[in-house]
Amino acid sequence: MTQDKLREYRLFGRRQGSPLSPRQQRLIDELLPQVQVDNSAVYQDVGQLTGLFCGKFTRFHLEIGFGGAEHLIWQARRAQDVGFIGCEPFINGVVKLLTAIEEAKLENIRICDDDARDLLDRLPESSLEKAYVLFPDPWPKKRHHKRRFINQRSLNQLARVMIPGAHLCFASDIADYITWTKGHIADNQYFELANIEPMERPRTRYEEKAARAGRASTYLTIACIK
Ligand SMILES: C[S@@+](CC[C@H](N)C(=O)[O-])C[C@H]1O[C@@H](n2cnc3c(N)ncnc32)[C@H](O)[C@@H]1O
Repeated sequence: MTQDKLREYRLFGRRQGSPLSPRQQRLIDELLPQVQVDNSAVYQDVGQLTGLFCGKFTRFHLEIGFGGAEHLIWQARRAQDVGFIGCEPFINGVVKLLTAIEEAKLENIRICDDDARDLLDRLPESSLEKAYVLFPDPWPKKRHHKRRFINQRSLNQLARVMIPGAHLCFASDIADYITWTKGHIADNQYFELANIEPMERPRTRYEEKAARAGRASTYLTIACIK
């Protein structure tokens, strides 16, 4: 890994919180390798993504920073004809998802336990029907805004891998991040805000925390218009 890459890794803070139980460690050692996206592979075409899912799916959704995976698990149960790629470098989140995959025998989830910005460069062009960025780290201090996940570079990366007309679903409880995202969308030639009601979906852990603290959440549906 280059020094630049190492520096970039500060973006998402901790990779591990509480120590893993023996069961969780077993999931990391045994189940993760079976459902893991190869962190160095470049997927050239949609056929290779189908291969990642043992040939079972031709439609793909991506969730970036799935946290405790509440939303991803719910979506994967609901749309069993779609292959879901969840990207989350925080190992305790990965373990939560692995637990659900094992218990519910979910076959339509693959996990990237690395930086989504790297993954986006390794996914095939026009391969995703949907992408979710839900409650990304807000980085409230102005001098940290450059660490926010949404920026022109990540939007261009997303545009490359999304199918024309696909939706990017964004949510935040931080008013300033909503304004920030709307501004970046307005400045980006590949996306426009779509006027669509938020669809039914569960609250994530982060969203629950925000609601308990009295912060309302805003959802943006953003269409890829490339
Ligand atoms: C505030 S949490 C929200 C988690 C979850 N979406 C929720 O709503 O509960 C943001 C998550 O994004 C992850 N994250 C931050 N930077 C990331 C990156 N570059 N690639 C993938 N995930 C990232 C963090 O590890 C963290 O779990």
